[in-house]
Amino acid sequence: MDVICKIFLLSSTHDARFRPFTRSVMTATTHSVARSFEIYERARELIPGTSQLISRRPSRAALGVSPIYAERAKGCRIWDVDGNEYVDWMSAVGPIVLGYADDVVDTAVKEQIDRGSVYSIVHENSLALAETLVRLIPSAEMVRYCKGGGEACTMAVRIARGFTGRDKVLFCGYHGWHDWYLAANLGSEGLQGHLFNGIDPIGVPAALEGTIEPFEYGDLDQLESQLKANDGRVACIIMEPMRTEMPPSGYLEGVRELADRHGAVLIFDEVSCGWRVSLGGVQEVAGVTPDISVFAKAISNGYPMAAVVGRRDIMATSERMFISSAYWDDNVGIAAAIATIGELERRDAPAVFKRLGSDFRARIDRAASEAGLAASCVGVDAHPGIRFDIDDPDTARLVTSVFVQENARRGLILSTGFFFNCGHEDVTALDHTERVVTETFALIAEGLERGDLASRLDTQVQEDSFRRMVS
Ligand SMILES: Cc1ncc(COP(=O)(O)O)c(C=O)c1O
Repeated sequence: MDVICKIFLLSSTHDARFRPFTRSVMTATTHSVARSFEIYERARELIPGTSQLISRRPSRAALGVSPIYAERAKGCRIWDVDGNEYVDWMSAVGPIVLGYADDVVDTAVKEQIDRGSVYSIVHENSLALAETLVRLIPSAEMVRYCKGGGEACTMAVRIARGFTGRDKVLFCGYHGWHDWYLAANLGSEGLQGHLFNGIDPIGVPAALEGTIEPFEYGDLDQLESQLKANDGRVACIIMEPMRTEMPPSGYLEGVRELADRHGAVLIFDEVSCGWRVSLGGVQEVAGVTPDISVFAKAISNGYPMAAVVGRRDIMATSERMFISSAYWDDNVGIAAAIATIGELERRDAPAVFKRLGSDFRARIDRAASEAGLAASCVGVDAHPGIRFDIDDPDTARLVTSVFVQENARRGLILSTGFFFNCGHEDVTALDHTERVVTETFALIAEGLERGDLASRLDTQVQEDSFRRMVS
């Protein structure tokens, strides 16, 4: 209740919504999210969790300080319903790769809307997109579409099970919300380290227990012993090939070899890593070709779209399987994907992200050293993360919470994990980010030194964010 009162007492007379976005209009003292919070209170009565993606739940940011409801977005910026302007590094938790409301993609989408979204028959563009994916992605010989990442993983696993006639799945990383995956927490805590801890698989059929097992990223011996223990029963190995670090040398080659030796289909889930490191996926950079790969999120710059691509003989099996849904032939997502991939190629997006990442890293590291805080930017340039060198998990969570809160107060949506988009190549946004992070780091350093950091947090300590084994 304290938090709510505080919010309503703070005044915000700024309305940045229709101003050119040349600078942040906010300071830590004028920032208010009163209108957001008022909507949130009403939404809680009608929408369980208030958002559909857990990572977008207000309770996962600095509740009462972070913005909750957006009014609009453009490039790398979001305006909330209170009129606050933010430089946003979350890129909608991954789908935005060119920048919000990209002109080229949105023109293609509007033109498609004018011609109709989904028909009783299909559109030739579905072939045009398939041809593009086959040209760019090493593992792509045939292509199927759907709408989301978890759904695409589910399709890939179904195809692998259908192709091999086997049931068992070995997995590493995060692959969505469906029964086949959450079954890993039936009778054990299989998702621990791959997602966040303590997920109760409520509603997942108990009969699925034992159908899926996790394996640890980087440990070929463990994977081999699991394959041996399940000899002749493993349908597929599904994994995120990387997150923020490139795969250790020889690791993916080793997984490929083990999958071949045991007759398991190898699936790379490139939902989060795809399109940023290379347009052919991590598989192109690593030089290891899986049997099936899954792309979603950034494929279409924010319009629902996903693709499952893979080896001809395996993918062709899906024609005989019941894998079917009305909106998977939707032409808006297909038009968005064609335009997005075209722009990613034209702008040489992987080079943009490399350049951007190296600039971002230098700025974060400089902010840390100026503030005297043990923090750094880690991982590959195209998709790094921010790390606080703090051993105690409770203190680490507190530090992250204060980081998110103080950034939000100053017009910055930035936590320790984030996604670049091409709109971030904007010196004003980068300067603003560096200035804010330097202030936030200094506040954290002071709080740690004086032992009063907890008193600087006006919200709850953040819940565990998604923990990725592959990070
Ligand atoms: C690697 C990976 N796979 C699957 C998913 C699920 O995608 P969606 O949220 O579109 O269902 C995600 C989402 O973050 C992801 O990162």
